[in-house]
Amino acid sequence: MSTDMGLSSPIPPDLLPDTATLDAGARLAVGGVDLIELCQEVGTPVFVYDEDHIRRRCQEAVAAFGEGVAYASKAFFCKEMARVAHSEGMCIDVSTAGESQVALKAGVPAGRLILHGNNKSDEELSLAFKEGFRRIVIDSFDEIDRIERLSPTGRPPVLLRVTPGIEAHTHTYVQTGQDDSKFGLGLASGAAAEAVERLRRPGMPVELVGIHAHIGSQIFEVSSFERAVGVLAGFFLPLGLGELCIGGGLGVAYVEGEKAPTISEFASAVRRATVAAGIPASVRVTAEPGRAIVAGAAITLYTVGTIKQLPGIRTYVSVDGGMSDNPRPVLYGSGYEAFLPRSTGAPRPLTATVVGKHCESGDVIVRDARLPADLSVGDILATPVTGAYGHSMASNYNKVGRPPVVFVRNGRARVVVRRETYDDLVRLDA
Ligand code: LLP
Repeated sequence: MSTDMGLSSPIPPDLLPDTATLDAGARLAVGGVDLIELCQEVGTPVFVYDEDHIRRRCQEAVAAFGEGVAYASKAFFCKEMARVAHSEGMCIDVSTAGESQVALKAGVPAGRLILHGNNKSDEELSLAFKEGFRRIVIDSFDEIDRIERLSPTGRPPVLLRVTPGIEAHTHTYVQTGQDDSKFGLGLASGAAAEAVERLRRPGMPVELVGIHAHIGSQIFEVSSFERAVGVLAGFFLPLGLGELCIGGGLGVAYVEGEKAPTISEFASAVRRATVAAGIPASVRVTAEPGRAIVAGAAITLYTVGTIKQLPGIRTYVSVDGGMSDNPRPVLYGSGYEAFLPRSTGAPRPLTATVVGKHCESGDVIVRDARLPADLSVGDILATPVTGAYGHSMASNYNKVGRPPVVFVRNGRARVVVRRETYDDLVRLDA
């Protein structure tokens, strides 16, 4: 295996969940639960979430933005996640009937749900109207037509999603604020103004209460949000509306050396920008963070199955999951770290490529992982910061069952999503 002592630092503690602790032998516990023992009980791969970490980020978001701030459920969702976010005072952003149903089945009141989507179906809109969702975020002229046809009663409150023409510094697949976007209605083209005019026509069965924008995801520079607020203010102010949602998109650190703003810093920057733009204090300014709430809360644990050394080329370390539980490296070239929870503070002098068990070469989890020198088959290998867009984008590729999700807190582990079984894999088949 190739070694590079210059890059042999242990896993940085700030990439671990809030309640991570090491015992005398540097074995990792999260939420007071020893992770290696947990793997012996529930098997691998497994997503382990630090429930306190999630709760603290929800509390921070509510304290920073106030009433109306929402958790973007697409980042990670299951009934228990819905309950945790709701119990901490967050609204929930849902973008499909499926996400809506999970929230409702978890017992979240419809009045706490905000419906998104660039192509909402009649079913999705009708559900939101029937149940009385808190807000519907209108995304197109066709949606306005659809709403008129469905003619809800009681003039439900809606926001209009606009694209401010801002190119946030992030991967193009997750940029959404630019003029060329499938989302929202453009400020520059005049489409947003036309939509406002239509929504304010007499007889329109919904009430326009605010404006929404979401400029992208995994954004490290709060100045991108400040620029967005500046541009939005010019459109928003003359309308005299009471609500402005700046969307989600706050980035998180995935690998050593990255530094992301906190949710509080994000909120302060947005607040500064709204004040500077002359947006009155009476306007409710909200946001919808997803990644920033859950990404750092989770660690994925795998078992190392094979180690293949190709002299002069590279070393492949194969684990028992892969692109089916974390498609982000394949989709976006995203970087992750790896470490061994049995010796968390150990130097990581080996460089190896951590790959999954799927039938394609692109199935890479960490391209140039740094790992301890005594790595061996049978080890539990961990990738931190896998709480967002991992489980939620997981697949059954190669008929690999999706891993379970375990919440840990106060020394107790709870399986909140069980492992898929072989029966699950054929449950839809004729
Ligand atoms: N609000 C809206 C309208 C959104 O579309 C999104 C994310 C969010 C809020 C939450 O954004 P966050 O705070 O999580 O960045 N699969 C990609 C990310 C896609 C984000 C989609 N929309 C990834 O794994 O990086």
